[in-house]
Amino acid sequence: MSDSLPPHDVVIIGSGAAGLTAAISLAERFKVLVLAKGNLAQGSTAWAQGGIAAVLDKGDTFEDHIRDTMIAGAGLNRRETVETVIENAPVAIERLIAMGVPFNKEHDALHLTREGGHSHRRIVHVDDATGWAVQEALLKTARANPNITLLPHQVAIDLITGRHEEKFSGSGRVWGVYALDQQSGKINAHTGRATIIATGGAGRCYLFSTAPRGATGDGIAMAWRAGARVSNMEMMQFHPTCLYNLDVKNFLITEAVRGEGGHLKLPAGAPEAGERFMPRFDAREELAPRDIVARAIDHEIKRLGLDYVDLDISHKDPEFVRHHFPNIHEKLLTLGIDMTTQPIPVVPAQHYTCGGVLIDLQGRTDLPGLYAAGEVTESGLHGANRLASNSLLECFVFGEAAARDIMARWDEFGQVPAIRPWDESRVTDSDEEVVIKQNWTEIRRFMWNYVGIVRTTKRLERAQHRIQLLSGEVADYYGNFRVTSDLVELRNLLQTAELIVSSALKRKESRGLHFNTDYPEMLPEAKDTVLVP
Ligand code: FAD
Ligand code: SIN
Repeated sequence: MSDSLPPHDVVIIGSGAAGLTAAISLAERFKVLVLAKGNLAQGSTAWAQGGIAAVLDKGDTFEDHIRDTMIAGAGLNRRETVETVIENAPVAIERLIAMGVPFNKEHDALHLTREGGHSHRRIVHVDDATGWAVQEALLKTARANPNITLLPHQVAIDLITGRHEEKFSGSGRVWGVYALDQQSGKINAHTGRATIIATGGAGRCYLFSTAPRGATGDGIAMAWRAGARVSNMEMMQFHPTCLYNLDVKNFLITEAVRGEGGHLKLPAGAPEAGERFMPRFDAREELAPRDIVARAIDHEIKRLGLDYVDLDISHKDPEFVRHHFPNIHEKLLTLGIDMTTQPIPVVPAQHYTCGGVLIDLQGRTDLPGLYAAGEVTESGLHGANRLASNSLLECFVFGEAAARDIMARWDEFGQVPAIRPWDESRVTDSDEEVVIKQNWTEIRRFMWNYVGIVRTTKRLERAQHRIQLLSGEVADYYGNFRVTSDLVELRNLLQTAELIVSSALKRKESRGLHFNTDYPEMLPEAKDTVLVP
């Protein structure tokens, strides 16, 4: 049932913006294997709406973008990382244009939109579906490169380390990954001299999330199990404006709607129906950073017992709205909402994982041979709260940085040793698949209720207790039954939830996205929450 395949030079887990950027650079010299869990465009990248932040306007400066990023990040950002990413942004955009991304233009210049926390217009975009255009261009480039092998429907299970060498070394050196081929059912060892984790975030730990189904924290959990540190996992970003619809639970309404003049209002039926409430919370009103807007909405929903608030851009010219937001406009029409004349009902939902596998400026993790890039990481860019549209940017800069570092160090990496195949001799098929669904739903529900936008120590402890109970059950299930995609995801979801809750309990203050009513003040010194396996 299991094979060790011939080694590639580099194994990359993930085919989103981070993974493909790294693959395209590495393919200048090396044979690269890219694995993806579902089809190749199934990560968050393809879902990105608003765009990519970069200093491209004459009146804008790197210093302003750095300041905006660090204000949003509530002082937890690492300045060196912020500078590196922001100064490399214009080059990253040029590379995307060279690959054929058709960014919107106005009067022969790139059209720049604006989002919360930005002091300037600096977001390049392709209508309101930027991610789809980026994903397509990266995939087209990768497909055309004979040095890149793209392998969809492979579920990475665990990293291959010194423990899996035929001649057991027990070291933390990473040699690739064991992955389940969903079509053949085989678990193969994919090996390489270097490995990059680019598996995206962990949004599906929460009941309501804008992230795609596969965002189950697999890379964070795999790196943790292999011995890498993770950092700032309590910093979970909630996007203020996810469509409120009982059938369509995770459709994002881009922040650019507020950037282009949309107002947040109390809905019909509320005591002050039609009131713009953001001015009561922050001088930046609807364009305050996300943590502030999401908490304000949460506050109004709880205070007035609402289901949602309204996002209203109907005071703008209908043609302007249709032109800027063609995809959202069309999608809403199918649900009976015309955003040119009606408000859009919205609620906050989990959106982005700011914490993750701790990396340095070259994308290196703690483990020799293991790199990471993109949403799976904690690079120091986002601090306690990510600034809008800085995330795709991080993928491009760190995907490239990891690739360059691997090239520079290539001669230090030894040959891949003989690796033991995956052992399935002691497991059987499960006759209780219902356990997976039950546990998955339970985790997502208590994470939403106990570890959400506003936290208390008591609720965090309740969540921790639930996790302890489920851990034994899931470990037992994992040890006895054949691995399936759902089981891999459940195991990782639970592991990631544990890291989030442990980190949240460690932080004895409120900062950025982490708001605990038992510790409402921000401490004078900003410190990362670093967990050591
Ligand atoms: P992803 O694009 O999520 O890719 C992850 C890859 O890893 C996928 O190929 C997946 O199949 C693979 N994978 C995962 N687990 C496994 C496994 N076990 N085995 C094998 N493969 C695996 N950011 C911005 O900067 N601007 C925006 O406008 C913006 N809009 C957004 C809108 C939405 C709705 C969402 C959800 C996010 C948005 N973001 C935006 C955030 C941004 O899209 C993501 O942070 C970014 O795309 C992450 O890219 P990535 O390469 O790290 O991971
Ligand atoms: C959005 O378009 O609002 C999402 C932007 C982001 O997540 O950076």
